[in-house]
Amino acid sequence: MKSYRMYINGEWVESCRGTYFPVHDPSTEEIIAEVPDANAQDVDRAVAAARAAFDSGPWSQSTAQDRGRLLFRLAQKVRDETPRLAELESRNCGKPIVESEYDMADVATCFEYYGGLATKVLGHVNPVPANALSLSLREPVGVAGQIIPWNYPLLMAAWKLAPALAAGCACVLKPAEQTPLTALEMAQWFEEVGLPPGVVNIITGFGETAGAPLVQHPQVNKIAFTGSAAVGKQIVKMAADTVKRVTLELGGKSPNIFFADADFEAAIDGALFGVFINQGEVCSAGSRILVERTIYSRFLEAMTEKAGRIKLGPPLERETKMGPLVSKEQYERVNSYVEIGKKEAKLAIGGSRPASPARGYYVAPTIFYDVDNSARIAREEIFGPVAAVIPFNNETEAIRLANDTPYGLAAAVWSRDIFKVFRVVKALRAGVVWVNHMQPTYVEAPWGGYKQSGFGRELGPWGIEEYLETKQVHINLDEQPIGWY
Ligand code: NAI
Ligand code: MG
Repeated sequence: MKSYRMYINGEWVESCRGTYFPVHDPSTEEIIAEVPDANAQDVDRAVAAARAAFDSGPWSQSTAQDRGRLLFRLAQKVRDETPRLAELESRNCGKPIVESEYDMADVATCFEYYGGLATKVLGHVNPVPANALSLSLREPVGVAGQIIPWNYPLLMAAWKLAPALAAGCACVLKPAEQTPLTALEMAQWFEEVGLPPGVVNIITGFGETAGAPLVQHPQVNKIAFTGSAAVGKQIVKMAADTVKRVTLELGGKSPNIFFADADFEAAIDGALFGVFINQGEVCSAGSRILVERTIYSRFLEAMTEKAGRIKLGPPLERETKMGPLVSKEQYERVNSYVEIGKKEAKLAIGGSRPASPARGYYVAPTIFYDVDNSARIAREEIFGPVAAVIPFNNETEAIRLANDTPYGLAAAVWSRDIFKVFRVVKALRAGVVWVNHMQPTYVEAPWGGYKQSGFGRELGPWGIEEYLETKQVHINLDEQPIGWY
């Protein structure tokens, strides 16, 4: 078992209280590491370090080119160390190793993208009706508190850190308590790639004791959060007292809509991939599968047959297509929804723990059908391998069902009819819409939700906007100004 320290002001430190908490491997249920249990005092230390770095340290004098190059160096480190990072990620969160390797490539690409974007942040000349030069300057928002979940641990760290650093912010990052390890490993390279002390601080701790004090801290200018809707709502309230900028990505109950004219084989695969990738622990999971009535029974049968062939197993085995859920807590939570589902709908497959592997927080791919859209398994985010299949009769009903949810992160539509596809795309109230696919995500394109899936956008040029303020500068060019008095 490895004992980690956390990273504050360029140093590896214990928590003020000197206490630690365990980190598990969900495939063996064993403890693999311990990390410091940070509290409000530790948050104070980290925020003070970030504040100093932002207000007066070398970071405040850094150029966009400096920051861009630094992000490229960090990306290269991640690429060089991918085998080790991917293995640790899979051991800690349970996702199949092949998926972790994709994640590491995406981490590096994210740092590269924002490394390039750092030098493309442009101001503006405002065409004011005066003998003056009016400018809009873009400036970093200041100290950013970043709170991330456990489903894509290092990728979520990259989505938060990369745009913030490109913009010139200083950061306090709090990984999820379940999965802090890869972010701590990455911090070992911060000094080497040229990050001055205090620019990125990583505190390990729990939501209420380390996350909440960060959100409430008067010296923090912005909070970026990805996680549950319940915590997102608390964050908006907590941030109100200090009028922090807040961006939220809160998951959803995304519809994956299949019309009868879709390519059948691609559709079956897309339905399963949409909801079972990463064990279903995906904010944009296509957890409501809407199927046109004329293909409904054939679709269900084919889906069920193929789901039965998904290979569950230890995350580090390369043939594994589904690993364990991240934690005992999540395993119990998902199973409680499975029990609810058994009362609300019909079960096509799954619904229990698989016989093998014998240990670990595994849940078999589970498909409920004839689900009413008002059922709890159709309304609440389950965040596990549990699909709700819902029939529809026509396009109007498909759109109505798809939008009948408090969430609006993502949606997908499958059809060969371009007119129908675009009508549906325009009608869907969601921040990300896929056509004849579900889940591919690119750093170049905006990511974020409508409705209760949150607000603000990550990735692309939108992502850096959330870390920038706009300063209006008016320069009088009239040598004899008005003389009003
Ligand atoms: P959570 O929302 O409690 O945790 C996410 C992050 O927020 C973690 O870093 C956690 O420490 C922090 N946090 C928790 N309470 C906080 C508070 N009061 N103040 C500040 N930070 C706080 O998510 P949890 O409990 O791990 O999972 C519960 C459900 O949330 C899942 O079943 C899933 O439905 C949803 N979820 C959605 C995610 C998404 O990507 N949208 C990611 C993770 C969970
Ligand atoms: Mg929680």
